[in-house]
Amino acid sequence: MYLSIVITSLCFCSVALAFSDIHGSVQTREEQANSFRPISPKVFVISMFTDEAEAWYGIPEFNILANNITVPGISPLFPQVHCTSNEDVCQVTTGEAEINAASTINSIAYSSLFDLRKTYFLIAGVAGVNPKVSTIGAVTFARYAVQVALQYEIDAREKPQAGTLGSSSPTDYPSELYGTEVFEVNEQLRQIAISFAQTATLNDTADAKSYRALYASTKSFAPGAQPPTVIACDTATSDVYSTGGLLGDAFDNTTSLFTNGSGIYCTTQQEDNATLESLLRAATTGLVEFSRIIIMRTASDFDRPYANQTILDNLLDESQGFEPSIENIYLAGIKVIEGILHGWANRFEAGIEADNYVGDIFGTLGGEPDFGPGSIFVDGNAKVRKRGLRYKKGLRRRQTLSSDSL
Ligand SMILES: *[C@@H]1O[C@H](CO)[C@@H](O)[C@H](O)[C@H]1NC(C)=O
Ligand SMILES: *[C@@H]1O[C@H](CO)[C@@H](O)[C@H](O)[C@H]1NC(C)=O
Ligand SMILES: *[C@@H]1O[C@H](CO)[C@@H](O)[C@H](O)[C@H]1NC(C)=O
Ligand SMILES: *[C@@H]1O[C@H](CO)[C@@H](O)[C@H](O)[C@H]1NC(C)=O
Ligand SMILES: *[C@@H]1O[C@H](CO)[C@@H](O)[C@H](O)[C@H]1NC(C)=O
Ligand SMILES: *[C@@H]1O[C@H](CO)[C@@H](O)[C@H](O)[C@H]1NC(C)=O
Repeated sequence: MYLSIVITSLCFCSVALAFSDIHGSVQTREEQANSFRPISPKVFVISMFTDEAEAWYGIPEFNILANNITVPGISPLFPQVHCTSNEDVCQVTTGEAEINAASTINSIAYSSLFDLRKTYFLIAGVAGVNPKVSTIGAVTFARYAVQVALQYEIDAREKPQAGTLGSSSPTDYPSELYGTEVFEVNEQLRQIAISFAQTATLNDTADAKSYRALYASTKSFAPGAQPPTVIACDTATSDVYSTGGLLGDAFDNTTSLFTNGSGIYCTTQQEDNATLESLLRAATTGLVEFSRIIIMRTASDFDRPYANQTILDNLLDESQGFEPSIENIYLAGIKVIEGILHGWANRFEAGIEADNYVGDIFGTLGGEPDFGPGSIFVDGNAKVRKRGLRYKKGLRRRQTLSSDSL
């Protein structure tokens, strides 16, 4: 009860704040329709760098460069949001890695230039891919986004002796949470997006075909040698671009651990959890709806070498699946966008009700996460201190690995 009161009043404040600088007084959105009308796109495409953005430029379906809007706070490399002339579809390039993604999406979410309460967000970027699950050129849609870098890191040259980690094992659920470890998005919406994307004919190239064939000799990499498909599987965020079987398996284990066995580690990228955390915070004040997010990642390269390939060759070989992955952002993504636009009035405007938990690991938006230790909110109050769940019953901090002081 307390929580809903807080959220309602915060929501009102944020709308008021967002517009008071323009009009000097609080007005409802309806009242100011004549003087100022924020852009309210039906779909907002989130790209991370130039090639991903250019997949949407010069296409026959719409001209996303018809309307350029300078938004304070977004990347100086990509200072404008682009929209179609009817403002149905907008696109932004965040810049790469988590900090750029978070600050750009934050700026957009709180900008008075936009009204995003009904907007669907399509995260549309390339990613590394786990050959145990899928292959280069594939189009993936995630339910879980896991921040796998939220672990303690030790340089391999200073690796502790086997056995000395004691109870602080990587297989234990973390005793301290930052809140961005796992996000879960609308499963119903994901399935709809997949069904739209499956109507696309995916691109593939001779280079990608011969590269993925090299994975066929390793039994567990069989999916990596298959032709690309549209597939449901989860994504890992790490600011560090990584490669190798050991790190891949470690992230696989972490994804499984953080999601209590539900998440399938499939793609790896550098932004999604940051984007999701910004959207989550905006959702707490009603500025966006967290159940309107689609995470689409197309696979550009493998996260680990094939048998007998050096790890450096895998890291540095840029040909792999980059071309088809960029093509497929558009080919699959346009089906999702058109599906939403065509079904707007009778289906999407009202929203797609989620039948799964939607939100973060803390339970910030309400409800009980189906992963992690459960919601930290009791009667609307977060039972946390500076670093997460330290005081939650049964989750005692590990003295051995922690160096901060309260
Ligand atoms: C919008 O910006 C792009 C470059 O980012 C440019 O090509 C396009 O012409 C601009 N559109 C308008 C209407 O000025
Ligand atoms: C990022 O979000 C995804 C999707 O919700 C989640 O599976 C993943 O655990 C998150 N990762 C991090 C590092 O927050
Ligand atoms: C991942 O988990 C499996 C099963 O517990 C374990 O055998 C393997 O060593 C782990 N891999 C890494 C890299 O931690
Ligand atoms: C890897 O190299 C070894 C030694 O040259 C060879 O015996 C093995 O067949 C190779 N494996 C594959 C899958 O190519
Ligand atoms: C795939 O895209 C490339 C450009 O990246 C193009 O040259 C090629 O013809 C396309 N192939 C198919 C099968 O559409
Ligand atoms: C997830 O796993 C942890 C550690 O085993 C456990 O404490 C927690 O209750 C589990 N959460 C759910 C929702 O099953």
